[in-house]
Amino acid sequence: MSGADPRPAGPLPVVLAGAGNMGRAWCAAIEDDPGVELTGIADIDRTSARAAATATGRDVAVGTDAVELAAATGARAVVDATVPAAHHPVTTAALFAGLDVLGEKPVAETVAQALSLAAAAQVSGRLFMVSQSRRWNPQLFALRAMAADLGAAGTLTTGFFRAPRFGGFREEMAHPLLVDMAIHAFDAARFLLDAEPVSAYCETHNPPWSWYAGDASATAVFAMDSGARYTYTGSWCAPGAQTSWNGEWRLSAQRGAVRWDGDHEPVPDTGPAPPVAAAPSGIAAALRAFTDAVRTGATPMGEVHENVPSLAMVEAAVRSARTGRRVLIDDVLDGAHAEALRTEPHPDVRAALAGWPSAREALARVRDARTAAPP
Ligand SMILES: NC(=O)c1ccc[n+]([C@@H]2O[C@H](COP(=O)([O-])OP(=O)(O)OC[C@H]3O[C@@H](n4cnc5c(N)ncnc54)[C@H](O)[C@@H]3O)[C@@H](O)[C@H]2O)c1
Repeated sequence: MSGADPRPAGPLPVVLAGAGNMGRAWCAAIEDDPGVELTGIADIDRTSARAAATATGRDVAVGTDAVELAAATGARAVVDATVPAAHHPVTTAALFAGLDVLGEKPVAETVAQALSLAAAAQVSGRLFMVSQSRRWNPQLFALRAMAADLGAAGTLTTGFFRAPRFGGFREEMAHPLLVDMAIHAFDAARFLLDAEPVSAYCETHNPPWSWYAGDASATAVFAMDSGARYTYTGSWCAPGAQTSWNGEWRLSAQRGAVRWDGDHEPVPDTGPAPPVAAAPSGIAAALRAFTDAVRTGATPMGEVHENVPSLAMVEAAVRSARTGRRVLIDDVLDGAHAEALRTEPHPDVRAALAGWPSAREALARVRDARTAAPP
């Protein structure tokens, strides 16, 4: 990671890549955080970059290439809020330019690209952290602590029922709910259960009244390596009795159960809910964890190796829905590893990928090594 370089004593200078909807939210979060200094905004659409810069009320540099802009403005890191298809090229270029990267979810468009990014982080020695904004929720942290007190987990369920009318690409995708939204819940499930996925079985459908071209409803069952089962049922065309955007959750465990409506404090069945301490949440919390990690060399939650299994759950669920079969996560990871080796253009990244005993082992080994021994 970034341990070899002198670490900045003052605010961390960063360039924002991507000035769309999330880019503007990141711009506000960066401007609000005294530990970070926004030195530039890059977007292939210069007009969007300029509009975001103007909204800051400061004279922020703009450009179309994040790495060039970082070099010109002295930035040490990039916040990548571009479209998913640009995550791999933008983040790879930044890592090999010696910049640390905080990227929006999903880590990349495919698991193969995600593995390439994990290897690129290793080879470049830079930090690449993925911001899963819904994981950075103090209520979810409280739920996790309650879950740990309940002993072995049996079944974890998420219900997600909303009826947003986005227009645009989401209404044209084959699997809008699974690909664009469910990763938040899948990622939170891994965090809550402190367990990794083993297999996925998923069915999707599109209700007759749906305004989406693809399947807007899905039910997925994951076997986890702890023995627990995680079940996700959701729909993006579900008018009435809508759930929180976080979904509604129930954990059934060895010594009881706990429920969370996604918006308020989780409620254990063993007694009253303890109050949840106020703390930064969402992208503001992810940004703080990232800057702390750059300064200290510690491994933050969401470091690329730790994040990849959340995307593997999405890919496994989509594959299961398409084939009607249960899909092993190892088959997704192994197939992605082979594809990454076939398509990787960077010789050092290809050599790193070739040295992995398996994708699952490489992800776990690096994750564990970094967690165990921060520099
Ligand atoms: N955490 C959340 O809750 C949440 C919510 C919405 C979106 N997202 C994620 O945020 C990311 C951006 O989504 P959005 O809704 O802002 O999309 P958007 O289409 O509104 O904006 C993306 C921007 O990236 C720019 N861009 C594309 N390629 C680029 C490149 N190579 N270099 C620089 N800029 C480039 C586009 O011109 C566009 O302005 C996606 O990964 C999405 O999944 C996360």
